[in-house]
Amino acid sequence: MSDKEYGVFLPIGNGGWMISETAPHPEATYAYNRRVAVDAEAIGLDFIMSMAKWKGFGGTTDHWGQTLESMTMMSALAEATSRVKIWATMHANIHHPAIAAKMYTTLQDVSGGRAGMNIVNGSYAAEFQQMGLWDEALSHADRYRMTEEWTEAVNRLWTEDSVTMKSDFFTLEDCESRPHPASRPTIISAGRSDRGREFQAKYADGAFLSADSLDQMRDFSRSVHDRAAELGRQCKTYSMLTVVLDETDAAAEAKAKAYSAGLDKQALIGMRTSWGIPADVARAWADGATGAEAFQTPYVTGSPDTVHAHIRQIVDTAELDGLMLIFPDYHADMIPFGETVLPRLRADG
Ligand SMILES: Cc1cc2nc3c(=O)[nH]c(=O)nc-3n(C[C@H](O)[C@H](O)[C@H](O)COP(=O)(O)O)c2cc1C
Repeated sequence: MSDKEYGVFLPIGNGGWMISETAPHPEATYAYNRRVAVDAEAIGLDFIMSMAKWKGFGGTTDHWGQTLESMTMMSALAEATSRVKIWATMHANIHHPAIAAKMYTTLQDVSGGRAGMNIVNGSYAAEFQQMGLWDEALSHADRYRMTEEWTEAVNRLWTEDSVTMKSDFFTLEDCESRPHPASRPTIISAGRSDRGREFQAKYADGAFLSADSLDQMRDFSRSVHDRAAELGRQCKTYSMLTVVLDETDAAAEAKAKAYSAGLDKQALIGMRTSWGIPADVARAWADGATGAEAFQTPYVTGSPDTVHAHIRQIVDTAELDGLMLIFPDYHADMIPFGETVLPRLRADG
């Protein structure tokens, strides 16, 4: 029996993770996400997670132009489910640690101990410039220093009755946050840089990794596992995968091809520029795109046999503790995955 963890990345933004006019278009509604969460629990997934996103990428699909707020949605989904872990995302750059600490104490209570906090720095300037909350002066390293201080503050507020702390970024003066959570919420982090992995090893229980190859992913996974172990703690590693499943490899491949055909190049440019890539470079890249770019993450297409083997290969080669799954059409695709692939992943030794 495998102890790997599998979860689902909820489509909290319209279009989910497909940037395409011809792919299914999940709605950024509570009703859509609620059904995904309930199905995830029913098929036996371990966690549900949502991102926090404040501005979309435009294009003909208005990709992620509509998003719900992560904490609010996950709190409701805690009530709609009873077993899956509930991982919501928090931006350290815009939420004061005392506010975040109490929000997650509340989510931990609502969920009966299933809460997880995905801590993100806030790296995408346009999301915060639109609010007047982007600090141009902060470097990548500064943002991680801020996030470390933020996380220290949250951890102290979860365990100490009164916190006084004067750091470069935060001032707490006899600050109270009671009740304390009955158990500490799980901490997740999804940085991609070496500095991000340092943060993960030091503070997180779970790290989301992305890499250019499986070998590189294995190196990252080892680095997080080893660095955490040196600090006397444990941090699990996960990655993301989009699954296009059908009865045969050919049918699944045809579906993926049909999704790729409608690639929304304008939204692709919007996504890349949101990462800080200059517009002309992003445009040149989108002009040369062949279609597979409609998938925002690595993906697998195939029959249950093929998908099962592919997932095993990723998890084993990259020495991951689990995967977060994405489906083009969650309502149609997730239950067949739960019936034909998940039981075999669970049964693997
Ligand atoms: C699974 C996953 C989820 C993420 N969720 C968010 C999010 O909700 N909001 C956000 O601003 N960034 C999110 N990010 C981006 C990361 O926080 C981070 O900025 C990015 O991976 C770059 O890594 P770095 O900060 O180490 O350079 C996510 C990344 C991954 C891989």
